[in-house]
Amino acid sequence: MTDTPTETATAQVRSAISSGEAPVVRTFFDEATFTATHVVHDPKTRRAAVIDSVLDFDQPSGRTSHASSDAVIDYIRAEALTVDFLLETHAHADHLSDAPYIQKVLGGALAIGGEIRTVQETFAKIFNEPASFAHDGSQFDRLMRDGERFTVGGIDAIALHVPGHTPACMAYVIGDAVFVGDTLFMPDYGTARADFPGGDARTLFRSIRRLMQLPDETRVFLCHDYKAPNRDEFVWETTMGAEKTGNVHVHKDVSEDEFVAMREARDATLGMPRLILPSLQVNIRAGHMPEPEENGVSYLKLPLNLL
Ligand SMILES: [Fe+2]
Repeated sequence: MTDTPTETATAQVRSAISSGEAPVVRTFFDEATFTATHVVHDPKTRRAAVIDSVLDFDQPSGRTSHASSDAVIDYIRAEALTVDFLLETHAHADHLSDAPYIQKVLGGALAIGGEIRTVQETFAKIFNEPASFAHDGSQFDRLMRDGERFTVGGIDAIALHVPGHTPACMAYVIGDAVFVGDTLFMPDYGTARADFPGGDARTLFRSIRRLMQLPDETRVFLCHDYKAPNRDEFVWETTMGAEKTGNVHVHKDVSEDEFVAMREARDATLGMPRLILPSLQVNIRAGHMPEPEENGVSYLKLPLNLL
């Protein structure tokens, strides 16, 4: 009998814990978008993956810069790491990915979940993308399937498809650590919204329950933190045990229907993220800007009265 992807991931976490072969994780937190970029590496081979990078974007002026990524690159060089992967947990709606810049400087394969094709199709309609815009994920180097295995140096890793926040969301289990993207936030903050096009609260709940099958000791790294009420510090790391017992939205005693009712009621009160329109246009292109027009300038569109 073949193991399910969650069983394989659980076995992988257990073996990483017992052998002590844990990846080193260094996080860079972008306070402008509340995003955590993680650099994960195998201390033996010094091979690394960069998860969810951030392009600095000043919306009023339309200016971009790479200060956040340059800090990541400086760290990777100082630690003498080789980048094998630039992993995106999903097509983010609150920041622009800077993976192409890091890739140009340091190399590595740019990967995202295979369901990005669905997200590309949805947003290609919203932005009325030209026929030349491919919906097949070909802007990325690798499309991860549920249960797809890979390695970061000598450390085993597995991709899990965890839709709900978006249809393409992935969690990456690397050694004893899981990078959950926007499925779970810190226990005191809860979960991500599920009301973007293609999002679904019930699906999100099921994905979270699937992640919660991982051992309690699994280190959990988040994509965002917003400081819960009564907390003064940003925090982006917890454990699966802490999520199961303490997550305010989805601890183990919350039923699926209770979660769906809470999530949908809450999402109905939320405005669109500040950077959703620029972010999606760039992130469905794997972090590349739209083709420049005849004057050599790239433009981002603002669809009116659509979202
Ligand atoms: Fe997100």
